[in-house]
Amino acid sequence: MKAIAILGAGGHGKVVADLASLNGFTRIDFFDDKTKRGTMIGPWSVVGTVDDAFSQQSTYHSLIVGVGDNKTRAKLLERIPTQQRITLIHPTAVVSQYARVGEGVVVLAGAIVNTFASVGNGVIINSGAIIEHDCEIRDYCHISPGAVVAGNVVVSEYSWIGANCSIRQGITVGTNAITGMSAVVVKDVDDNSTVIGSPAKKQ
Ligand SMILES: CC(C)(COP(=O)(O)OP(=O)(O)OC[C@H]1O[C@@H](n2cnc3c(N)ncnc32)[C@H](O)[C@@H]1OP(=O)(O)O)[C@@H](O)C(=O)NCCC(=O)NCCS
Repeated sequence: MKAIAILGAGGHGKVVADLASLNGFTRIDFFDDKTKRGTMIGPWSVVGTVDDAFSQQSTYHSLIVGVGDNKTRAKLLERIPTQQRITLIHPTAVVSQYARVGEGVVVLAGAIVNTFASVGNGVIINSGAIIEHDCEIRDYCHISPGAVVAGNVVVSEYSWIGANCSIRQGITVGTNAITGMSAVVVKDVDDNSTVIGSPAKKQ
């Protein structure tokens, strides 16, 4: 039996559990600080808190973080021993044989990571997102559903690219930035800023 512990039983955690099942895990347990032990989420149950997951880690093949918030995901991934970190790729996603994908990453249904793209640790490439050739998606970013990141774009650590956002080729998105849903990003985005609209401007 292949066992995985999922840290976080919210919306993203559920998606990660489904993904783990598609990747051959047959025992899938949630650990969450805000959900009562014994709560069933579909066919899976919450079996303890996040600290419990770390005290029971030897009974799992892998641990993965199912939390959407970038900073929280980073903190939790950094506690997982390297040999138990895992990257899960949905069977309908396409990841180029020439792309590099780090640890603790999820690539969800229908997403594409194209040639020579690089995806750092703890990144979420959400459903249907496209990461084009030579992009660099740095650690702990979240690329939301349907976002299109054109070639040679850099998305720096902890940034959140909103659903359906498009980013022109060659752009750099700074650290801890947010691009809103459906934003059309045609200029570099400053660290810690939020941009919205078409063309995208600071909020
Ligand atoms: C950009 C964003 C972070 C702003 O969130 P916020 O700071 O809570 O902003 P608010 O909802 O208070 O909205 C502030 C103003 O910006 C506008 N606004 C918010 N998001 C916008 C967007 N994506 N595009 C255009 N305008 C937007 C609101 O209409 C509001 O305008 P008003 O002041 O004229 O009423 C958020 O709306 C967003 O787009 N998040 C991404 C969501 C996403 O992709 N989720 C996927 C999860 S998997």
